[in-house]
Amino acid sequence: MKTIWPIYSLLLTAINAQSLCDKASFVDRAGWGGREPTSITNLTRKPFSFYVIHHSYDPPNCYDDTSCIERVKQIQDLHQTTFGWADVGYHFLVGENGKVYEGRGWNRQAAHSPGWNDDAFGICIMGDFRTAPPNEKALNAVRSWIDCGIKHGHVKEDYYIITHRQSQRPGYTECPGNGTMDVVNKWPRYCSFQNPGTPLDANETLLSLANNFCGKEVPSPSSASTYFITHVILFFLLLIYSL
Ligand SMILES: *[C@@H]1O[C@H](CO)[C@@H](O)[C@H](O)[C@H]1NC(C)=O
Ligand SMILES: *[C@@H]1O[C@H](CO)[C@@H](O)[C@H](O)[C@H]1NC(C)=O
Ligand SMILES: *[C@@H]1O[C@H](CO)[C@@H](O)[C@H](O)[C@H]1NC(C)=O
Repeated sequence: MKTIWPIYSLLLTAINAQSLCDKASFVDRAGWGGREPTSITNLTRKPFSFYVIHHSYDPPNCYDDTSCIERVKQIQDLHQTTFGWADVGYHFLVGENGKVYEGRGWNRQAAHSPGWNDDAFGICIMGDFRTAPPNEKALNAVRSWIDCGIKHGHVKEDYYIITHRQSQRPGYTECPGNGTMDVVNKWPRYCSFQNPGTPLDANETLLSLANNFCGKEVPSPSSASTYFITHVILFFLLLIYSL
């Protein structure tokens, strides 16, 4: 019986070990030399239930720190100078160097998907993924960052992942490319909701539609109760073992 506690606590440590978030490699705005936004609107409806995945399509893929920073700046230029937006449109941008670049961040309204900008975090994988998927470094970075949003309380534990094309009427955009789509649609919290593009009832919003649909399609995470039960089972298995 005496030996059971050290073993149990070792196992606990292993179970609670690093979340994916701890593996994230993050570059803040100062780190990539972002320009100031021309205006800021704070998000007010957090924690969110949705992530929306994008690709940049143009400019092209980047695999090292120098070219990825160049890409982030190009995208900020396009959005801020050419489009006249307040700032780079995405909340975060990810390169195939495996780094996450801060766009508008966790606290500011972005401009990534009309109708979703107050209710979903937009993550853009930089590159053209119409055929090939993003590389493992980029995909791992996205997953880590998704995990960070939950760990830091910006996103609910029973969140959903959709893509830019699903957030808009059918045919609006092919973003994030079939290459990205074919990978992301196998992730556990992916939801196949598609914006119908038809007028909404007075009592509906895009968000309520999506929440309803995804709540039925994607099972709730096993968080609290399963977590507790796992520990009870683990403890008794060890107890039996040590007797
Ligand atoms: C937005 O949030 C920042 C802190 O995150 C705060 O300093 C600022 O006053 C807020 N702006 C508005 C308009 O509420
Ligand atoms: C992407 O996939 C859809 C079918 O899911 C297809 O209609 C479309 O042509 C594909 N786009 C490209 C660029 O391959
Ligand atoms: C919204 O109203 C329609 C009728 O117009 C009704 O069928 C539907 O159940 C309502 N949805 C909600 C979420 O209340």
